[in-house]
Amino acid sequence: MKPPVIFINFKAYKSATGENALKMARKFEKIARKFRISVVLCVQNVDLYRVSQAVAIPVFAQHADNIEYGAHTGYVLPEALKQNGAYGTLLNHAEHQISDESLKSSIERAKQAGLFTLVCANTPGKAGKILKYNPDFVAVEPPELIGGDISVSKAKPEVIKKAVKIAGQKKLIVGAGIKTGEDVKIAVKFGAAGVLVASGVVQAQNPQKALIDLAKGLL
Ligand code: G3P
Repeated sequence: MKPPVIFINFKAYKSATGENALKMARKFEKIARKFRISVVLCVQNVDLYRVSQAVAIPVFAQHADNIEYGAHTGYVLPEALKQNGAYGTLLNHAEHQISDESLKSSIERAKQAGLFTLVCANTPGKAGKILKYNPDFVAVEPPELIGGDISVSKAKPEVIKKAVKIAGQKKLIVGAGIKTGEDVKIAVKFGAAGVLVASGVVQAQNPQKALIDLAKGLL
């Protein structure tokens, strides 16, 4: 995961679930190789095994719980993610938020299981608080821009600048509405170590073309 990194969140989109997740992952891996860029795929937990078996680029879970081995029906055990091919996990995504207390122990548990952590924050201020729990990366995503057509890079560059000041350049990922190479270029120019993107690639008419466009923002 050499920065700059493009994290692609498959969310629960039909285009990126089950067999479709596998097909998409294979195509994205080829692009990552061709352009020599770091791409990380954040797939649904149930798709981890099949996707991680098929590609050599890092695959992240979308969520993990702060539980240990034992009687925890339905919860997501970090060690089970690791054993099923996860390289890391997203935590506290805007669509799956957890309390600060749980977040602290979730980061600790994920690390104990050998997982990298990319923790989401709604604001740069929140990112600053989360950094005290020492995640590997923190992703700042203004919630109102998530899934929309205007990127954080274009609509709120000041958020990126502020977040860089708080989080430093090594750990900061930014996301929300990222769709073009120019969006990526702006984010990296302001000091981000990468971007977190979903609909702009996964829901694009031509996801390969969309990822190639993002990749060009890094060249
Ligand atoms: O996890 C990525 C995310 O929430 C941003 O989504 O669709 O705006 O790229 P999107």
